[in-house]
Amino acid sequence: MTTMITLDSMTRAAELLARASRVMVFTGAGVSAESGVPTFRGAGGLWEGHPVEQVATPEAFAADPLMVWRFYDQRRVNLAPRRPNPAHQVLARWQERFASFVLATQNVDSLHEDAGSRGVLHLHGSIWRVRCCRCQEEREDRTAPFPALPPRCSCGGLLRPAVVWFGEPLPMDVLETAMVASERCEVLLVVGTSAVVYPAAGLVEVAASAGASVIEVNPQASALAWLASVALRGPAGEMLPRLEEALAERTS
Ligand code: OAD
Repeated sequence: MTTMITLDSMTRAAELLARASRVMVFTGAGVSAESGVPTFRGAGGLWEGHPVEQVATPEAFAADPLMVWRFYDQRRVNLAPRRPNPAHQVLARWQERFASFVLATQNVDSLHEDAGSRGVLHLHGSIWRVRCCRCQEEREDRTAPFPALPPRCSCGGLLRPAVVWFGEPLPMDVLETAMVASERCEVLLVVGTSAVVYPAAGLVEVAASAGASVIEVNPQASALAWLASVALRGPAGEMLPRLEEALAERTS
């Protein structure tokens, strides 16, 4: 019975994509779960052992930069050997498939790029970039682990991870580009996010109210699952390759 429902949803999702020329994808931690990257919420999630307010706020960094850096340095060490999974790979192939394809992610890893995606909109920054608190210069730095914590800029200032912390604004140009894409897309694929963190989750609401069909790919219903026309309830690394196959059958 479950398989029948899934098959039917798969067909409907493939039909929506087959008719669309403007497609947007919005991803969260779940898309990297099968690459061995922990998600944030729920049992075993990253926030379970490290409450958000202790490691992911500007206040926490101001109070104890060393403790915050220990957390991010460890995350960088854990992320360094991770490789893209089939979900990242399907999304990378799809950028050539549609006339317009925009991929916006909340993830700070680089697994979409590692799979071959280009022009990814990183709504929450990148863990592989650092920014100086004094001279404000931002650059890529893949050192993991850093030889000494907290790392410092050549100007002597304290470096911070170039990620968006709670209470901080998202990079305006990135958010604007994503908002415009969400207003214009015909289909929005929402993959592996609990859709509870704003303004990023607002992309789903904008797309749905502008008339896009929303396809959710997540083993569990997200907070915005009610906006989805179709739900593919399973891991992204299995669902997206199956969706790619179903799409190929429809368009060959
Ligand atoms: P969450 O940890 O909140 O949610 C992860 C989602 O992935 C859940 O809905 C899971 O059901 C789903 N999931 C788990 N395994 C999956 C799989 N194999 N395939 C598909 N889905 C799967 O992570 P995000 O929604 O990304 O922000 O969290 C949003 C933001 O909150 C993050 O960017 C981060 C976090 O705090 C900042 O740090 C600013």
